[in-house]
This record gives sequence, C-alpha cells and structure tokens, in this order.
Amino acid sequence: MDSPYAVLGVEADADDTEIERAYRRRVKEAHPDRGGSAEEFQRVRAAYEAATSGTAIPQSDVENGASGSREESPPEADDESHGDRTDRSDGERDGTGGERTPTNTRVEYLNYDAVADHGWEIDDPDLFEAASSADLDHADYGVFLAEPGETLLEAAEHRGFAWPFACRGGACANCAVAVVEGELDSTVDNVLTDDLVERGFRLSCIGRPVSETLRVIYNVKHLPGLDDLRLPADRFERARADD
Ligand code: FES
Repeated sequence: MDSPYAVLGVEADADDTEIERAYRRRVKEAHPDRGGSAEEFQRVRAAYEAATSGTAIPQSDVENGASGSREESPPEADDESHGDRTDRSDGERDGTGGERTPTNTRVEYLNYDAVADHGWEIDDPDLFEAASSADLDHADYGVFLAEPGETLLEAAEHRGFAWPFACRGGACANCAVAVVEGELDSTVDNVLTDDLVERGFRLSCIGRPVSETLRVIYNVKHLPGLDDLRLPADRFERARADD
C-alpha cells in the first residue's frame, strides 16, 4: 500500500505546510468532476488525514526502526471529545467553568428549510431572534458547543445532528453554511467562489470555528451559486462502502 506521503506526492519528512499545499493540489486532481474518481478522492483525503494526524509513519522513521506514530500520544482534547458528547447537544454545561475552555465556540444554528418555511430572509438581522421564539424542532434551531479542533460539521455530528455533506474534503457545496455571525477558519482551498465567500458562505466539513460565538444557517446547498457546486452524496457513500 502506498504511504500517505506518496499518495500526496511529498517527501516523508514534509512539514505541515508542504503537506497542506500538496493536499490542495491532489484533492483537485482526484475530484470526480475533474478527471479523478470518488475512490481516488477518498484515498487522497485519507492520506491527508493520516499525514496530519500523526498516524502515518515517515519512511525515515521506518528505516531507523521506529514503530510508533509521529506523535507520542494523541492530544488530550481528542480523548475528552469522545466522552459525553451527546448529552451536550443543548450547549449547556454545569456552570462551574471547569470543562469549558476559552476556545470553545457557542454555535447557534438554524436550518435553511425552517427559514424558507417561515418566509424569512437569511440576511434579516433579526432572523435568529425570530427563530429562537418560533418553537422550532431541536434539529432545526438550537445551540451547541464546538470544541477546539473540531470542524463545524464534526461538531454537529458529534452532538447527534445529521447535517448535509458529500466529499468531506472541500470539493463540493453540499456542506455549505451561511455564517451570519462569527468566523469559520478554512485553511484548505475549496470550491467556493470569491463572491460566495464574500457573501458569508463557508464549508462546514473543513471550517473550524475560531470565534467565541458563531451563528450559522446550515443546509443552504440549494441556494443559487451553491446548487451548481453540489455533488451526488451517494457517490461518496458508495466509495466508503467499498473501502
Ligand atoms: S462535503 Fe464536500 S466540501 Fe464539504
């Protein structure tokens, strides 16, 4: 099996910047709509995750007889994040301040379907106030806390929500959200046009919350400009099933 570094086309001792740059190039080459395939796309994605998570062993370490990963142990935050996630879907903690770190983000979310059903506009400055008093289903409106290191999509999924996605790699608009307040940091290049980014759209599968609070409208993939960038989700589901 090719090493993650070979899949990405970088040397085994490549630093994070080189890996990031190689990933941006390779993920575009591997995209099904650009001559690649869903399988190749997933292979590149998996290689990137292995190379950046510390689970890949550089060839130089193998030659030197090392048997562990690039990191001695997984980050503590990762261990904690697999604990009692589901009981925090309402974003409430015990109030002691002991678990909540300054870098957690309070995410207030709203489903675009609810916006459309009520005849609201996504650029209405009072949209979230209207949503908070509309007695919406918890899946459509609410608050959760995103932990450091989680992408927005991961944070939602870890708390039991099923937000839309397809490639999970910045190559479609299935996971797009409209950021109404706060910031999502997307270091990986993606398919969104400058105009869409200017209008506040971001990709939840690669965007990590970097502000204390965030207000997002998810499920906006059918809006003009984003609809053309969607991919069939089942294409990637089949690829995963074939792994
Ligand atoms: S799921 Fe394709 S870019 Fe996020």
